[in-house]
Amino acid sequence: MKTINKVKVVVVGGAGFIGSQVTDALVARFSAQGGPASGWEVHVIDNLSGGKKESVNPKATFHNADIRELESIKPIIKGATFVFHLAALPRVQYSIEHPAETHEVNVTGTVNVLIASKEGGVKRVIYSASSSAYGDQKTLPLVETMTPAPKSPYGLQKYLGEEYARVWSEVYGLPTVSLRYFNVYGPGLNPDGAYALAIGKFLKQRKEGKPLTIWGDGTQTRDSTHVRDVVRANLLAMESTKVGKGEVINIGTGRNFSVNQLAKLIGGDVVHEPARLEPHDTLADNSLAKKLLGWKPEITLEEGIKELKKAFNIG
Ligand SMILES: NC(=O)c1ccc[n+]([C@@H]2O[C@H](COP(=O)([O-])OP(=O)(O)OC[C@H]3O[C@@H](n4cnc5c(N)ncnc54)[C@H](O)[C@@H]3O)[C@@H](O)[C@H]2O)c1
Repeated sequence: MKTINKVKVVVVGGAGFIGSQVTDALVARFSAQGGPASGWEVHVIDNLSGGKKESVNPKATFHNADIRELESIKPIIKGATFVFHLAALPRVQYSIEHPAETHEVNVTGTVNVLIASKEGGVKRVIYSASSSAYGDQKTLPLVETMTPAPKSPYGLQKYLGEEYARVWSEVYGLPTVSLRYFNVYGPGLNPDGAYALAIGKFLKQRKEGKPLTIWGDGTQTRDSTHVRDVVRANLLAMESTKVGKGEVINIGTGRNFSVNQLAKLIGGDVVHEPARLEPHDTLADNSLAKKLLGWKPEITLEEGIKELKKAFNIG
């Protein structure tokens, strides 16, 4: 393991599903290297609109702040070596109903994180991007060289975020890298609410003895990536010497399953609801992640679902 000393790291959105686990991984990594005594500091910025304070690692310093307010985040980010930017309003349907509010957080908030990082002398920003930037493409797998065609305000906002990150590298010399995640699932996922992703929603429905609700005919496919694999990609993006110029990198498994197959893995009766406006298929080409980060997925969907079924007691 590489040792990096005397660093301050800020996880923006560190109370959320993925951000809290990035924070845990950073704390674990630093503790293994001697903890705060060796000069490590992990800070979390989150306004708790989607995340929970209890999810924030107690060894991290929590700041209840909003990325829409530049002046409030500047002093927290100042002097950081690495900034992981995961804060977002991350639901497609919500963005369709609330385009202005989601723009404010997902785009303006991201620009604020970039401004604060540039001014604060940050050495690298790792931005959580989304495969929703692709929309529907003519061919699969989805490769980073394809022209994005987002199908929702959310997809467009996440794409703008990575473009801003790239421009901040080119124009202002701020090192950035964007990781385009493909449907992240795993322990800690939020199974509640109208906007919950299929896996979380299915697990909850199965647990409550209700039929699994499938939008449309269920033939739509998703490349689903385990949160621990996504966390590992973040740490590799922090350490890799091959990134920092605004690169955009797919983080997906390279395998996809239809929603019908997914429902079968979780088990139980199904009912169909009207189709939603969403890309029909996602499937990542992950060769760039291998090349630039040395990353490849380690957890299969079958293993990941098995673990979650155990956690939900529907083993
Ligand atoms: N979960 C997925 O499948 C997935 C897929 C692709 C990309 N992503 C991206 O990964 C990131 C993390 O997603 P997640 O699933 O952990 O979502 P999440 O909602 O669990 O986490 C997002 C966090 O951002 C915080 N936040 C929201 N608005 C904020 C604001 N104005 N100021 C400060 N904090 C704010 C929320 O409180 C929450 O803790 C997001 O940027 C999302 O777009 C997620």
